[in-house]
This record gives sequence, C-alpha cells and structure tokens, in this order.
Amino acid sequence: MATAVSAAVSLPSSKSTSFPTRTSIISPEKINFNKVPLYYRNVSGGSRLVTIRAQVTTEAPAKVEKISKKQDEGVVVNKFRPKEPYIGRCLLNTKITGDDAPGETWHMVFSTEGEIPYREGQSIGVIADGVDANGKPHKLRLYSIASSALGDFGDSKTVSLCVKRLVYTNDKGEEVKGVCSNFLCDLKPGADVKITGPVGKEMLMPKDPNATVIMLGTGTGIAPFRSFLWKMFFEKHDDYKFNGLAWLFLGVPTSSSLLYKEEFEKMKEKAPENFRLDFAVSREQTNEKGEKMYIQTRMAQYAEELWTLLKKDNTFVYMCGLKGMEQGIDDIMSSLAAKEGIDWADYKKQLKKAEQWNVEVY
Ligand SMILES: Cc1cc2nc3c(=O)[nH]c(=O)nc-3n(C[C@H](O)[C@H](O)[C@H](O)COP(=O)(O)OP(=O)(O)OC[C@H]3O[C@@H](n4cnc5c(N)ncnc54)[C@H](O)[C@@H]3O)c2cc1C
Ligand SMILES: NC(=O)c1ccc[n+]([C@@H]2O[C@H](COP(=O)([O-])OP(=O)(O)OC[C@H]3O[C@@H](n4cnc5c(N)ncnc54)[C@H](OP(=O)(O)O)[C@@H]3O)[C@@H](O)[C@H]2O)c1
Repeated sequence: MATAVSAAVSLPSSKSTSFPTRTSIISPEKINFNKVPLYYRNVSGGSRLVTIRAQVTTEAPAKVEKISKKQDEGVVVNKFRPKEPYIGRCLLNTKITGDDAPGETWHMVFSTEGEIPYREGQSIGVIADGVDANGKPHKLRLYSIASSALGDFGDSKTVSLCVKRLVYTNDKGEEVKGVCSNFLCDLKPGADVKITGPVGKEMLMPKDPNATVIMLGTGTGIAPFRSFLWKMFFEKHDDYKFNGLAWLFLGVPTSSSLLYKEEFEKMKEKAPENFRLDFAVSREQTNEKGEKMYIQTRMAQYAEELWTLLKKDNTFVYMCGLKGMEQGIDDIMSSLAAKEGIDWADYKKQLKKAEQWNVEVY
C-alpha cells in the first residue's frame, strides 16, 4: 500500500494556459496532492539476479551481483497497440516555459482510470488526430512519462507528459509544425487522446533505495527524472523509501525554459542531504574559459566527484534528451577513465550490462 504525500507544486503561470474541468482538484497556480490511499504492487518477488564482471584493467572496479530492473515480471509493455489504443482524456494542459523562452514546452495530464499500468521511466505512444499526406492515420510518436506511477493526483489514474512544440523552417523557407507535438500542445481539457503502450525498460528506476542516481537531462529529457524524483521525494511507499543520493543535471537554453524548477527546489528543501540539483543554462551561462554552459560543461566542474561515484556498484547514471549530449558526456568520461588507465568504451559496456549506464536520447 502506498500513499501520495501532501505536496503543493506550482506550475509557472501563462496567459495561454488552459485549465481543466476538475477545478476541485487543481487550481491554476497550484496542484494540491491530497493523501490518497492506494494499492501498490510489491514487485521485488519476480526479479532476476544478473551477474556482471568488469575486468577492464586491474584498476577498474569489479561489478557485483545485483537485481535487474529490466527483467522485472511486473513491468507491463504494449498493453495498448495502435490498432486499439486507449482513449484517455486531457485533464490539464499548461505551458511551463516563459513567454520569452525559445520554443514552448507544455505539461499535460491525461486520465487513464488506472488502465495504463506504467512504471517510472517508461514511455507512452500518442496518435495524433487526423490523417497524413497519404490519407492514412498518423503514426504514433513516443513520449517519456513525466509523472510517477501514482500520477500527479496520487490516485494511479493519470499519466503526464512534458512536450516541446516542434516548429521549424524548411529549405523553402516555410514554417513547418510537427504533427504530434502540436496536436498535444494544443489539446484542450476534456479532449480525447489516443494512447499506446506503455513501453520501454531502459530507463526504469533502480530498485535499491540507497542507490546514487545521477540524472542527465536536456530540455524535455527531464520527463523521466521528474517521474523518479516524485517517487523519491513527494510520495510514501511501504516498499520504497529513498535514502540514497539523487543528483540531477538539467540543461536548457534560457532560465525561462527551466522546467519544473519550483518542484525541484521544493524537493531540495525537503531532502537537502539526498538531492543535488545543477542547472546548465546554455545561452546565459559560461564556464571559466568562457565556453557555452552545456550539461557536460557543468558536469566537468564535478568531474572527479562524478568519477568516484561512478565506481560504486550502486551508482546508476541515466541520460535523456538531445542525442548530441551523449558524445559530450562520453568525452568527459573518457578523459577521467584514461587518467586511471581505463578504456571508457570498454568500461561503459560493463556499466551498461550492469544497468548502471542508461541512455534514451533522440
Ligand atoms: C523514447 C522517446 C521519448 C520521447 N520523449 C519525448 C518527450 O518526453 N517530450 C518531447 O517533446 N518529445 C519526446 N520525444 C520526441 C517525440 O517522439 C517526437 O519525435 C516529437 O514530439 C516530434 O514529433 P512531431 O510529430 O511533432 O514532429 P513530426 O511531424 O514527426 O516532425 C518531425 C520531423 O521533422 C523534421 N525536423 C524536425 N526538426 C527539424 C529542423 N529543425 N529542420 C528540418 N527538419 C526538421 C525531421 O524530419 C523530424 O523527423 C521522444 C522520442 C522518443 C524516441
Ligand atoms: N527519451 C527520449 O528519447 C526523449 C525524451 C524526451 C525528449 N526527447 C527529445 O529531446 C530533445 C530535447 O529538446 P528540447 O527542445 O526539449 O530541448 P531544449 O529546451 O532546446 O534544451 C536543449 C538544451 O540542450 C542544449 N544542447 C544542444 N546541443 C547540445 C549538445 N550537443 N550537448 C549538450 N547540450 C546540448 C541546448 O543548447 P542550445 O540550444 O543553446 O545550443 C539546450 O540548452 C527533443 O528533440 C525531444 O524530442 C527525447
């Protein structure tokens, strides 16, 4: 049995915000999470043990037996497929980037009535209304789930997304709007939405409540980490009480595009010993050499500490967002590993096998 603890969370106000019919639960500036009892499956029984060895050099830390998160029998995938999607309802859709931010990102909540049994770290598919240029239904697009399994209302009956509106100019100078992201960002409360999934096991949370969890997100890549962090810091579970270290690095272009900042600051107030928070605001900050502050630039400032943490068996790194970030992060890791005579590519393979290096970039 698990309960959602009472937490008040502000979403930035916006003139273009749409609010749901469920005004008794959500107010425009604040979502109040009341204590809601619910049933939570104990999932530890079906886990499989995986044995991983890392013998890269004599100095590379050996990996020990640990419980696989990916083999967990309780993780549901593909319950709903494109031919018979689940029809959810939009309950809330609000812009969470400032009006001067480059681009718009929206936070939205859909009803599931508990029919989509997702876990933190999974994604859902969305099929936009309408047809494509060939008159065929649109193909699904994947979106990382931004809510914990309990959902934003704490009743396990909703799923939330964090979606960037895709708008770009093509070779002919025409403005092109991405099909599904624009469909989602324009959704009004009360509207139906076709959902598939849930899918994905790569980004599932580690089971160990004492783990060090290093989260590296750019832009909407924050979604799975909001989901993790709500479970860690805003909820109470009989079978999970986080007492490790959660360290979030978030890269965004401007301070007006910092996503869920107030929530994360609230978490930091609640658990200063267990939560570290570092932002990389690329168009406003630079490092001491005057270089653009990308997520990997911020990480480099803690390089030694991160490397030390990475050598622990219960440290798990998660990366989500722009594809480009992966190379930058690999570059830092390569130089740190090389100092100890370790080949990063080999070592990363071992970490991946041990489910300690988890990447979902696009
Ligand atoms: C596992 C996974 C999780 C994801 N999670 C999220 C998430 O949480 N939030 C989120 O916002 N997105 C997420 N995405 C991305 C999402 O699935 C969509 O790809 C995105 O919303 C764009 O879809 P669309 O239908 O709006 O654009 P489409 O209509 O599909 O258009 C996209 C296409 O436009 C073209 N294009 C895009 N930009 C440009 C450009 N600058 N110049 C020229 N051509 C361009 C490319 O051909 C691209 O394939 C995720 C993707 C994956 C794989
Ligand atoms: N699981 C997934 O696969 C998944 C989940 C969620 C989102 N996504 C995708 O992730 C992307 C996030 O985009 P967004 O528009 O939400 O982000 P955004 O708000 O534009 O923020 C992206 C940040 O990353 C910076 N950046 C650009 N190139 C980088 C690089 N090589 N290394 C490190 N940082 C870099 C950007 O800096 P500058 O712009 O200043 O250069 C900006 O600060 C989207 O394409 C989205 O579809 C994928």
